[in-house]
Amino acid sequence: MTDVMILAAGLGTRMKSRRAKVLHELAGLPLIVHVLRSAFELAPQAIFTVVGHQAEEVEHAVKAAATRLSNSKNVTPELRFVLQAEQQGTGHAVMAARNQLTGRNGQIVILAGDAPLIEAATLLNLVQTHREEKNEATMLTVLLNDPTGYGRIIRDDNGNFLRNVEQKDASPAELSTKEVGVSMYCFDIPPLLDALDHLTTDNAQGEFYLTDVPKILQAHGKRVGLLCHSNAEELLGVNTRIELADLECTLRERKLRELMLSGVTILDPSTTYIHQDVEIAPDTVIHPQVIIEGSSRIGSACTILSWTRMKDVEIGDNVTIRNSCVIEDSVIRDGATVGPFARLRAGAEIGEKAGIGNFVEVKKSKIGRGTKASHLTYLGDATLGERVNIGAGTVTCNYDGVRKNETIIEDDVKIGSDTMLVAPVRVGRGSVTGAGSVVTKDVPPDSLAVGVPAVVKKKLK
Ligand code: UD1
Ligand code: CA
Repeated sequence: MTDVMILAAGLGTRMKSRRAKVLHELAGLPLIVHVLRSAFELAPQAIFTVVGHQAEEVEHAVKAAATRLSNSKNVTPELRFVLQAEQQGTGHAVMAARNQLTGRNGQIVILAGDAPLIEAATLLNLVQTHREEKNEATMLTVLLNDPTGYGRIIRDDNGNFLRNVEQKDASPAELSTKEVGVSMYCFDIPPLLDALDHLTTDNAQGEFYLTDVPKILQAHGKRVGLLCHSNAEELLGVNTRIELADLECTLRERKLRELMLSGVTILDPSTTYIHQDVEIAPDTVIHPQVIIEGSSRIGSACTILSWTRMKDVEIGDNVTIRNSCVIEDSVIRDGATVGPFARLRAGAEIGEKAGIGNFVEVKKSKIGRGTKASHLTYLGDATLGERVNIGAGTVTCNYDGVRKNETIIEDDVKIGSDTMLVAPVRVGRGSVTGAGSVVTKDVPPDSLAVGVPAVVKKKLK
């Protein structure tokens, strides 16, 4: 039985921010959500999050992400939140959880909420090592060329754990040690709780250090193991905005490599930004300076041209997105073409082989198969059938100042340039509107409507 605890109460002074450090975003997700993702892979029984600064916001971020993760990974750990109102150190953070931990008998993996690159495999290895070595405490460590700022690990002549010492408490000899702790541990819960009783604030920072727990356990005859991990980059925490940007770079490269290895062409990885949860099928080509965010899914053999930004989109196969489009919360079906300079938002749904051209905005509208709106058009709250042609300058006048009203344009309609469709309004199948008409009343099928306001001139069939 494994539990997880994420320490996330600190403000993160060096971020120079009013926002709690763990809420700063990396690759589009709060730092703590990255940690949570890896924690989920342990299929823990419970996840404790110690909150303090912006407790409510942190709790909200964790809950929202946990709901998504539970759905996609099919594990449902119990979420527990521990309020550490005053931050008196990492040991104090665990002390705040004492009541909630009492009576639990398994292991607990403790993680820092500000070390987002931690991989699940490393955590699984930590737990496995802990169990195989029958330790009461196992600390994850790493060797750093420049260990400045980190707590140092001191080993005895046989290489066994002796003690650890924080930078501010270390002697010059201790400071030369390159092995550091990374605030990631596996503990047996009952001895951990016992050791907390022995923590003091007798140190340079006047805090309760979680790093003191292993030596307390050892002094009480318990086994403390060290697991020295080879990949330092994965374990490092974010303390400043410079480190945040460095990690952003690392994660971005990792994602782009993954995509390229899976068959996606990325012409210029140095200017392409694709968030972690984005999925792209093989043979899609991404041109320079494209940004794809959120939980976007893009099919195969699509072409995404430069300067386009997309978020939470679902795109089929063989779709072309031309230059400089802004697309959010939208669906684009197979073979459609969008842009350049198109704006799709709030539930736009572009049908198969449809064409949305330059300076066209589509909001909460369904565009049928093969339908075209090629220039300078606003389509809002509209449903367009198949093979419709929308002339340049057409506007669905959907807002009467109070309500958003619907426009329905049936199959095979031709809307003349500069037509104003004053909603609610319906243009029947096969009808045509003249250039510049202002359509205030429904147009029956197969009719020609012209003028201001438009009147039906003749039946076409
Ligand atoms: C800590 C370790 C240090 C280690 C380093 C690795 C201690 C005393 N030191 O130092 O040995 O090398 O991490 O990154 O543990 N937090 C709380 N409540 C608190 C204090 C901190 O929840 O009262 C949380 C923070 O939000 C953060 C994490 O614990 O997520 C680490 O805290 P931080 O202050 O960054 O610890 P360091 O000084 O870096
Ligand atoms: Ca830190």
